[in-house]
Amino acid sequence: MPRTPILIDCDPGQDDAVMLMLAMNAPELEILGITAVGGNVPLAWTEANARRICELMGRRDLPVFAGCDRPLVRPLVTAAHVHGEDGLMGLTLPAPTMVLQRQHAVDFIVETLRARDDVVLCPVGPLTNIAMALTKAPDIARRVRRIVLMGGAIHGGNVTPVAEYNIYADPDAAAVVFASGAPIVMIGLDCTHQALIGPDQIAALKRAGTTAAKATVALFDFPERWRPHLYGGRVGFPVHDACVVGWLLDPQAFAGRDCRVDVETASELTLGQTVVDWHGKHGGAPNAQVIRDVDAPRFLDELLRRLSRP
Ligand code: BDR
Ligand code: CA
Repeated sequence: MPRTPILIDCDPGQDDAVMLMLAMNAPELEILGITAVGGNVPLAWTEANARRICELMGRRDLPVFAGCDRPLVRPLVTAAHVHGEDGLMGLTLPAPTMVLQRQHAVDFIVETLRARDDVVLCPVGPLTNIAMALTKAPDIARRVRRIVLMGGAIHGGNVTPVAEYNIYADPDAAAVVFASGAPIVMIGLDCTHQALIGPDQIAALKRAGTTAAKATVALFDFPERWRPHLYGGRVGFPVHDACVVGWLLDPQAFAGRDCRVDVETASELTLGQTVVDWHGKHGGAPNAQVIRDVDAPRFLDELLRRLSRP
């Protein structure tokens, strides 16, 4: 079976951890490497957490690289209040013993994308590493098969009224990525807020009892976070980053359209907003396929099935 080569750029992060476990349980995907960026928690945690998840899943063979420890031009704003000070609140894992690669993540991204033209880049944290790679080597925008990212929103943010965390944390980097000309699939909050891990999923994962299922329960069994008013009446908590792998495995379960997306980098009030021209109002050429909807039961079934795989 031909496998899709992917490169994951992440900031684990609870949902990043689930995304990594899902990707590792998807034989259709070949993970070429995992790069870490400062985001949900500082880089020292995100790179170590990426290695922790590799070890938990028996994948010490996967190379993990550390990248940028702060946004391009702003101080790092973490999301430790969501993910815990160590990034994996609920899941206690020993310090990793597998090596951290010596090469910088940005150089690994450039090298990998220059070596072949079939790689799908999957950023699920602030876009700092990706923007740095595109700045250092603009030719990779033509070589990357696709960038499938979690970030942004058509309507409404989760940090400010209009800004989603990954874009808000490094809006300047996001602007570079959206202006790069690379083919982009943007999976934002409009979509990820439809697919929640809630009581039914927790119960199913508890029954499954595999390593990945147990880890997901540890990371997501926080009923105090199940605030239906935030998620269209749905009960549970979004597993944002896993939607990126969900799209790779089953794009038919997702729906969106090609749009112009611009990132606000100047206004204090709307910093980090992804201005998505869904109705083609200003006539800018589309630069992203913006995913708005997901068949949530279909995606969640697939997620659970994969996490429950022994
Ligand atoms: C995104 O922000 C982070 O906190 C999550 O890991 C996800 O990538 C959701 O807005
Ligand atoms: Ca993330």
